[in-house]
Amino acid sequence: MTVPTHPPDSNRDEWQSKTGFILAAAGSAIGLGNIWRFPYTAGENGGGAFVLIYIGFVVLIGVPVLMAELALGRTSKSNAVGAFRIVSQAGAWPWVGYLGVATGLGILSFYSVVAGWTVTYLWHTLMGTFAGNIEAVSSTALFANITASPVVSVLTAALFLVLTASIVRQGISGGIEKASRYLMPFLLVILVVLLIRSVTLPGAGAGLTYLFSPDFSKLNGAVIISALGQALFSLSIGMGAMITYGAYLKTDTNIPRASAQIAGFDLVIALVAGMIVFPALFAADIPPDAGTGLIFVVLPTLFHAMPAGQIFGFLLYLLLAIAALTSTISLMEVVVTYLTDDRQWSRNRAVAIVGTIAFAFSVPSALAQGGNPFFTELPGLAMDFMTFQSVLWGNYALSLGGLLLCLFVGWKWTAKAAVNTLLLGASGFPGQLLWRFLIRYVCPSAILAILIYLIASGQTVQ
Ligand code: PHE
Repeated sequence: MTVPTHPPDSNRDEWQSKTGFILAAAGSAIGLGNIWRFPYTAGENGGGAFVLIYIGFVVLIGVPVLMAELALGRTSKSNAVGAFRIVSQAGAWPWVGYLGVATGLGILSFYSVVAGWTVTYLWHTLMGTFAGNIEAVSSTALFANITASPVVSVLTAALFLVLTASIVRQGISGGIEKASRYLMPFLLVILVVLLIRSVTLPGAGAGLTYLFSPDFSKLNGAVIISALGQALFSLSIGMGAMITYGAYLKTDTNIPRASAQIAGFDLVIALVAGMIVFPALFAADIPPDAGTGLIFVVLPTLFHAMPAGQIFGFLLYLLLAIAALTSTISLMEVVVTYLTDDRQWSRNRAVAIVGTIAFAFSVPSALAQGGNPFFTELPGLAMDFMTFQSVLWGNYALSLGGLLLCLFVGWKWTAKAAVNTLLLGASGFPGQLLWRFLIRYVCPSAILAILIYLIASGQTVQ
């Protein structure tokens, strides 16, 4: 096979500004992972100690891997598959990219179903469903009704994919960058409003203590592994999203600094989401380990109890929907950039086909919460189809992709060569020896540890 030399394409779309790029990449990172998954995972894993370990992983593993992906994308100016092919010149490495493209489609197909739920909840807050005296029982029933309804689940997932496609269709600078420039500041404003509301609730202090004072007796292997998995998922690393976004970067961007900013942004938003959710829970005397329904089941019971609860409820679900949208955009873009770069498809065709395939795969996930008995309880697996997708793509595929990426950048491309790319656009890179050590040894061994644990325990947590 002839190795593509990848002639420089002067018409290639690019991020128009550094801020636009940071907002788009942070938009990819900040998603349901921060606002929905982080609070309930922290709640299930005992609070403070989990949070501390999570922060450690974001800094020691998240930031170095993020830098590696962005550098690989920018140096190759190519998609998740092409980047490996161009840099390695030969061998099986492009398969890591194919794994990433499949993972993008896989995550998109169940993520859009959960994103669809946020749309339904938005509708309910508009209709005033939570204005009455909604008790925990009826809130649980409402969640079950929404998620079990085949029509509502399938249609809202479709709606979300159409919304995603309408932005991706307009390209990097005219679609994703522009949308992120509007949506991300809006998201921040909503977060601040909700934060102020939550921390001023009577009894809020207990929630903050739970989140920030570590109780190390709660630590065990599962907590540590959950924290690492959460760090990878939350930063959108391990499947080529950041390679893809890096491919549209100009050489004057300081990647080490941008990576620290993106990861910092992502971390702060997760912590703020925790600071919104836990005070509200503790103020209402609700235990923090309610699991995946935390935001959908527990919070509506609070809205009726607080002044202007309707408005805060609406803002919360709007926040979730916006956060989810800037993430589904990046998931779709991984596959679209692959098809437009490597297969020379037009963007319109790629978006239409990727959207249709993602929709087809989202249907079984949408039917997995009671809509269809087979997908609700997969025979032999003791789990529903959506959980299966989340475990398969969100846990196994992301961890494997992250591990292979570290091995590729650290040993095949070589950390030394990658540092030369990282130096472009930066006025220096003081942590370069540390980064080389982390990407070659620490990151791959830690991720390998998760994978071994996942396999050994037949892990089903999301
Ligand atoms: N980071 C996103 C979130 O926290 C999820 C995601 C994973 C998006 C992988 C893109 C790629 O919700």
